Amino acid sequence: MANDTAYLKVDGEEYELPIIQGTLGPAVIDVSAFQTAGYWTYDPGYKVTAPVESKITFIDGDKGELLHRGYPIDELANQADYLEVCYALLHGDLPTTEQKKDFYYKVSRHMGVHEQLRKFFEGFRRDAHPMAIMVGVVGALSAFYHDGLDVSDERHREITAIRLIAKMPTLAAMSYKYSQGHPFMYPRNDFSYAENFLYMMFATPGDVNYKVNPILSNAMDKIFTLHADHEQNASTSTVRLAGSTGANPYACIAAGIAALWGPSHGGANEAVLEMLDEIGSVENVDEFMEKVKRKEVKLMGFGHRVYKNFDPRAKVMKETCDEVLGALGITDPKLALAMKLEKIALEDPYFVERNLYPNVDFYSGIILKAIGIPTSMFTVIFALARTAGWISHWLEMHSAPFKIGRPRQLYTGEQRRDFVKLEDRK
Ligand code: CMC
Repeated sequence: MANDTAYLKVDGEEYELPIIQGTLGPAVIDVSAFQTAGYWTYDPGYKVTAPVESKITFIDGDKGELLHRGYPIDELANQADYLEVCYALLHGDLPTTEQKKDFYYKVSRHMGVHEQLRKFFEGFRRDAHPMAIMVGVVGALSAFYHDGLDVSDERHREITAIRLIAKMPTLAAMSYKYSQGHPFMYPRNDFSYAENFLYMMFATPGDVNYKVNPILSNAMDKIFTLHADHEQNASTSTVRLAGSTGANPYACIAAGIAALWGPSHGGANEAVLEMLDEIGSVENVDEFMEKVKRKEVKLMGFGHRVYKNFDPRAKVMKETCDEVLGALGITDPKLALAMKLEKIALEDPYFVERNLYPNVDFYSGIILKAIGIPTSMFTVIFALARTAGWISHWLEMHSAPFKIGRPRQLYTGEQRRDFVKLEDRK
């Protein structure tokens, strides 16, 4: 690093601002001295603001690099499974054989949910969006597991992290089963995490010999791994901000789910399929692309705030996508349509100049559709997988002293000195 101090000259005063270099990534300028200068920083969209120091995940958007606890995402996705990645996110490194066994045991034994929670589901309309249900029931967990709510107690924090990771597939599958009017399925201890999710989604009580297709459970596990964490994105920052008030972790994760729901974030995978429906057939693609260029619509599943070269998750996801489609022999016209969109976007200068590459949600949407998961569940699956990242960031925040998150603003409203009582207003 060339300098370790930046200088701010304002109103004739010069302030020294320390430059701090992390292990990777651009250095940051510590702007705390602005307080003395009487200025605030203005950065809509937090494009250059680092509100936290973190050791969990690193992204180099220009290089298309994503590391969890220092490991590249493609190595994790191809050589570890989702629960190993969860362990690394939570604990700082991948587990040993013994640690893995213990962690899997704990997660599998916590997958069930309190029976009373079933009644909570009955309060929803059958056609409720499953994300609406998830925001409610995950927040409601805080009303069921009182024995782990002391956020100042490390043991409470740890057990809650396991409970959340373990219960998300069960709650996600319940939200689907409820919409179908089917009985809820209980998790099985002999199934892996991904197998359990598919089993609870698609089996019925009569399926006593239910077998999960290993190609599908592997694909599901990869989807979970590729969505496990993504440093300080909108939903993770929401979880941290909610957590900074001392709120209980279930409420914080519910806040994260709410933030994830939007189409610019986790809602994009659902929006991809809606977009394919809207386009209808391959013949309409050119006309749709013209609309995108006129900025009348967005090409969902393309572009990213951080990745301006390629999304490394999309690369792995595309391989899995080809594998699943090949193995299942699927020839859905929607998929042909998706492939044509991908081809145009990768070649057309409009998209190339703006670095609009397919992101992880473009391919995950296609795989999930091939597996038979309904579109409305796509974002729920993202939330299920991202819970590991959210809770790891929440734990990291609680492992050291922290302050309540309280941003400032640039006020551009009125300042009035002419208050008129209601009866005198014309
Ligand atoms: N379709 C068409 N044009 C786009 C798109 C898109 N999906 N994304 C960006 N652009 C254009 C935008 O109009 C702008 O053009 P110009 O320079 O002519 O004004 C240029 O590209 C730069 O866009 P931006 O709005 O400055 O980019 P951003 O970093 O603020 O937005 C984004 C990132 C992800 C919100 C945006 O690309 C987007 O809305 N994509 C579609 C939604 C999506 O797939 N989201 C999932 C992201 S991956 C999952 C996750 O991590 O949450």
